[in-house]
Amino acid sequence: MVQGVIFDLDGVICSTDEFHYLAWKALADKEGIPFDRETNNLLRGVSRMASLEIILRKATRSYSEEEKASLADYKNELYRGYLKQMTPADLDPNVLKTLHTLKEKGVRIAIGSSSKNTKTILTNLGIIDVFDAIADGNDIHHSKPDPEVFLVAAKKLGLEPSSCIVVEDAFAGIEAAKRGGFVAAAIGDAIKDPDADYVLSTLSDVLSIALA
Ligand code: BG6
Ligand code: MG
Repeated sequence: MVQGVIFDLDGVICSTDEFHYLAWKALADKEGIPFDRETNNLLRGVSRMASLEIILRKATRSYSEEEKASLADYKNELYRGYLKQMTPADLDPNVLKTLHTLKEKGVRIAIGSSSKNTKTILTNLGIIDVFDAIADGNDIHHSKPDPEVFLVAAKKLGLEPSSCIVVEDAFAGIEAAKRGGFVAAAIGDAIKDPDADYVLSTLSDVLSIALA
């Protein structure tokens, strides 16, 4: 029986994945590094520094650790500029309805995100108090595809991984969920991942799985 649902944030609860793309694209253009949507999909679920390393694979010169730290800060400042414009109006009403329905039925809900900006986003969307637990980039040493963030979320919920569904838009997130012993439900880019247990065309599809 499903007792909990752990949601990834960027690209699952909200469209901040697009802001990540725009910020990385601006950085890549500034540095003259090729960057497209396909490369961007490799960054889903991956930490900020690991994302930068993936982008720099296409650079024609090497970067010092100091330069990398400054590029990551530059990207984060651009990204946080987009986050500042977010309000509760940016939350899809179907997402909110899905979260409330799960809670009404006694299913516990959590966020499991690699992002260190998680709490800013949830606050701006007005849903920080809706979740029973939040595990984010500040709680972990290893980002997805390591299962750590989902294991932390399950522990905070007081639930076993096998009784929780993870909802993810990242291949790295589906791998993390499976490695952690969770049921993996894919949405967005991750629906192409053959390792997903379920495919969701919209977030509310998780209700029929969780409440079955
Ligand atoms: C994940 C995103 O949720 O968070 C990644 O899918 C991002 O693209 C990662 O790199 C880290 O985010 P932040 O906000 O800490 O830079
Ligand atoms: Mg995501």
